[in-house]
Amino acid sequence: MSTQTQLVASLSSLRIGFLGKPMAAQRELHDFFFKEAKRKGYRSRAAYKLTEIDDKKHVLKKRDVVLDLGCAPGSWLQVISQRIGPRGKAIGVDLKAIDQTNLLENVVTIQEDVTALTPDTFGGDLFDVLLSDMAPNTTGVRTTDHYGSVRLCHCALDLATTLLKTHGNLVMKVLEGEAYPELLDRCSQMFAQSKGFKPKASRAISTEMFVVCLDRNEELQPPMQIAPAPPARGWQ
Ligand SMILES: C[S@@+](CC[C@H](N)C(=O)[O-])C[C@H]1O[C@@H](n2cnc3c(N)ncnc32)[C@H](O)[C@@H]1O
Repeated sequence: MSTQTQLVASLSSLRIGFLGKPMAAQRELHDFFFKEAKRKGYRSRAAYKLTEIDDKKHVLKKRDVVLDLGCAPGSWLQVISQRIGPRGKAIGVDLKAIDQTNLLENVVTIQEDVTALTPDTFGGDLFDVLLSDMAPNTTGVRTTDHYGSVRLCHCALDLATTLLKTHGNLVMKVLEGEAYPELLDRCSQMFAQSKGFKPKASRAISTEMFVVCLDRNEELQPPMQIAPAPPARGWQ
């Protein structure tokens, strides 16, 4: 039995055991991905989120040049590196330093705030795929965290206007909330397809979603000049 089949079989048996116990089930599923990630040498269970997104939506392909925004500790880079192959290239950016140990030769990392990135950072090179698993420092206040996350998404979309090739793909994490429809609207103006996706490795109780945008339109759109305005109440 292949590892993938074993994973699906394990998930199915877990779900049967979950009936009537949703919270316990979520904890078990979370532990399951955590243990699987450890066993396979992934730096975090987030690897399974990108694996599922790419298996279902076919975002990455061999030889792609990929920019991974908010890449630390590096489990997405591990997945990207395998999927694009030795002739592809992945560049990871994070505020935090990224441990280079065991990263393949097709991976380069930069310690930087993504808001400081410009086309010059990459010598004018363009990307086939932009990925963002960026999350703000969470406060526990849902509205604050939501708007923090949406700002990071608009930053990723701004970067897509100058760094993503025509027909390129973008996947970004967002914490859902009231500015989510407006974010999706902007995505649908920039890409032929854009849709929210919730991977199994993402906790059901979390507002975390991934917006999968495929096939960037030809015409460039100027970056947003102003970040979305937070509501008068609930914003801190
Ligand atoms: C959930 S982690 C990413 C996990 C990663 N995808 C992986 O698989 O290992 C979110 C990351 O986003 C980074 N981040 C948040 N805001 C950022 C910014 N403005 N510039 C660069 N990185 C940022 C954080 O430092 C954090 O490491």
